[in-house]
Amino acid sequence: MDYKIAVLGTGAVGKSSIVVRYIRDTFTESYDPTVEDSYQKPDEFDGKACILDILDTAGMAEYSSLRTQYMEKGIGFVLVYSIVQTKTFQEIEPLIKKIYEVKQKDPATCTIPIVIVGNKVDLDAPGEREVTKEEGEQLAQRYHCRFLEASAKTNVNIRETFSQLVNAIDNS
Ligand code: GTP
Ligand code: MG
Repeated sequence: MDYKIAVLGTGAVGKSSIVVRYIRDTFTESYDPTVEDSYQKPDEFDGKACILDILDTAGMAEYSSLRTQYMEKGIGFVLVYSIVQTKTFQEIEPLIKKIYEVKQKDPATCTIPIVIVGNKVDLDAPGEREVTKEEGEQLAQRYHCRFLEASAKTNVNIRETFSQLVNAIDNS
């Protein structure tokens, strides 16, 4: 089965780093803003072969006009924020609402497969973290999304993110 996945979130939260870590198992400290990239990755989850079609989108506002288009194309969504930047978390709920609006679905009666990812958990330290794990969990609960804290840098919960999303799509 073919899974169409779009990765969305504010600029510089680590969307591309998560995708590249998953696809190539590499990480770079340098920042190169994305316009649009797409990847195809064959994988196997729970003994089932599948192909992930991943659309890595631009977080920068200048390109956000493309967002609606990504939402139309996606079947499942990875929504990424940075645990060390509150404002990136605050953009997640409007994104969820927009996805439901674009898909003409009602969150009360229908669940769109979404994994919310709090990235950069390797930077978790007193005085550094701005978004608690509980805040992430509560938002996910409200919209029946899956939730993980992850790090593209230290490879925490990266494959799990895609595994969870494939599972959520299968159960939708
Ligand atoms: P746009 O394409 O502009 O939307 O950004 P993006 O969300 O794709 O972010 P990108 O993956 O380009 O990463 C932005 C910066 O954050 C880069 O300097 C990365 O090295 C860094 N970064 C990404 N993930 C992590 C992480 O898990 N931990 C740490 N410490 N840095 C990260
Ligand atoms: Mg990017």
